[in-house]
Amino acid sequence: MNRRLILDVDTGTDDAIAIMMAGLSPDLDLIACTTVWGNHDVDTTTENTLRVLDHIDHSDVPVYRGLGKPYAPIPFLFPDYADSDRTIVHPHDFPIASRTSDVRATPAVEWLVETLRAATERVTLVPVAPLTNIAAAITLDPRIVDAVDEVVLMGGAHALGNVTPAAEANIWHDPVAADVVFQAGFERLVLVPLDATHEAIVSLDQTRALRATGTPAAVAAAAIIEQRITGYNEILPTGAADTAPVHDALCIAYLLDPAVLDVAPYRVQIDTVSPLSFGKTIVDVDNRARSAANCHVALGADATLFNDLMFRTLSEGR
Ligand code: BDR
Ligand code: CA
Repeated sequence: MNRRLILDVDTGTDDAIAIMMAGLSPDLDLIACTTVWGNHDVDTTTENTLRVLDHIDHSDVPVYRGLGKPYAPIPFLFPDYADSDRTIVHPHDFPIASRTSDVRATPAVEWLVETLRAATERVTLVPVAPLTNIAAAITLDPRIVDAVDEVVLMGGAHALGNVTPAAEANIWHDPVAADVVFQAGFERLVLVPLDATHEAIVSLDQTRALRATGTPAAVAAAAIIEQRITGYNEILPTGAADTAPVHDALCIAYLLDPAVLDVAPYRVQIDTVSPLSFGKTIVDVDNRARSAANCHVALGADATLFNDLMFRTLSEGR
């Protein structure tokens, strides 16, 4: 039986690739997308999510609009935060233009709680956005964690940062929500931080190959990733010319083939209080705290396998 998953997204360019891979893989059953604020306001992320699903002929996948501001207020002002960087990588002018389907009436958090309470088969939860919706759902009913076999979440960083020198955007946007998720008692939590996504980079040669296949998903993905490459060249070059990470898509690749990530168990804590490292995921790689691991962290990734999984899923629907 196919693995059933819920994708929580702030679509977003890399979210778009994750949605297309999850929707098109015959080995995955994408039961819904829930949307949240992050890359844009929640109305825009919801609109973009609907457009992506329509584009790949999957308007049958329901979309539920989630929360539009953090679970806990951000306690500091960040004068150095370059908000313009976000709009370079996630432009308002989303490359997929039209949609016919509509968002469902039920709010995402309510839907998550109802669905997980009623689940007779366990579900995989894949948050690739600020953890606002997931923390709110856990707060409403902490027992919903029992319905989840695995959480695979894109967020955090060990040796890197993007939104600040210390912190990654998904965690930094709502660190208290992330802390709630890390402490909720999920049976298995896999963290896919920047350390892994910055190894799974995509080059212009690979986008050209995608485009050449001619499928709607591959052609759109090529355009989106090329937009990201232009953005990364400008604001955060990866070290390899004309390449970019496609963070969120790596979570879906992991569901298709776990060998794509180099995963090991570590204790991870979220900094929710310090001005300089606010929102940082502190990964205790040498077990300095002498405490049990609370998640599996990917500190590396196989770029060749990632590109292969993305290419196969988007070009052949498998
Ligand atoms: C994460 O933040 C968002 O901008 C991306 O969609 C991704 O989920 C990367 O830091
Ligand atoms: Ca995202």
